Amino acid sequence: MHTYWETTGATMAFTHPLDHALLERYVPRDARILDYGCGYGRLTAQLEELGYRDVQGVDPSAAMIERGAREHPGLTLTRQTALPLPFAAGSFDAALLFVVLGVVPGDADQNALVCELARLIRPGGVLYLSDVPLQDDERHSRRYEEAVAAAPYRAYGTFSTPDGGLFRHHRPEQLRALLAGNGFTVEEERTGTTATLHGHTTRNVQLVARRDAPAG
Ligand SMILES: C[S@@+](CC[C@H](N)C(=O)[O-])C[C@H]1O[C@@H](n2cnc3c(N)ncnc32)[C@H](O)[C@@H]1O
Repeated sequence: MHTYWETTGATMAFTHPLDHALLERYVPRDARILDYGCGYGRLTAQLEELGYRDVQGVDPSAAMIERGAREHPGLTLTRQTALPLPFAAGSFDAALLFVVLGVVPGDADQNALVCELARLIRPGGVLYLSDVPLQDDERHSRRYEEAVAAAPYRAYGTFSTPDGGLFRHHRPEQLRALLAGNGFTVEEERTGTTATLHGHTTRNVQLVARRDAPAG
């Protein structure tokens, strides 16, 4: 995990919206739900407010989990710094993955993360992902090109912010391939807009994917 998430990043307000109607279509109230990369428990708390009773969040940042315990006492938020997570295979009916791939820029790290979610979500369960696609405005295009010139070994769309953060914007087809390669089938995809951590507005992409049943 980047140290940003123990310092500046841990003071920010996260923004990607949870679409309640979309969630309710795929996830019943008695589902066991994992909020992966839960930060300070923003969405874990929303799930409980919506009446989901079996919800827990995990995040590698001690600062995030401490903030979550202060802001939402009573939620089950735990710090987990390494994979595999200490849960049995198929322990969850659903998981949220909100703007976590966007802060884990390496292909191999992203793949390990989604592979772990494929282990944890039971066949037929769902993953609800929200992240940031490549933006097509001039400010972002310039930022991507400058980042490629400075660090050509990083995936296109990866860039640093002046406050020390490292982020990646994705081609939607790359997100779909990452999910398909780890045994998920995308059932729904939509785009919207959201505020960024740095006071701008970006497009977001949300995908709901179902964990495939084992072959045979
Ligand atoms: C932009 S925040 C989003 C938090 C939360 N999902 C939300 O939407 O409110 C990104 C979170 O990912 C966490 N994170 C960073 N590296 C991670 C990793 N390798 N695995 C899981 N979470 C990670 C950070 O600590 C941070 O809490």
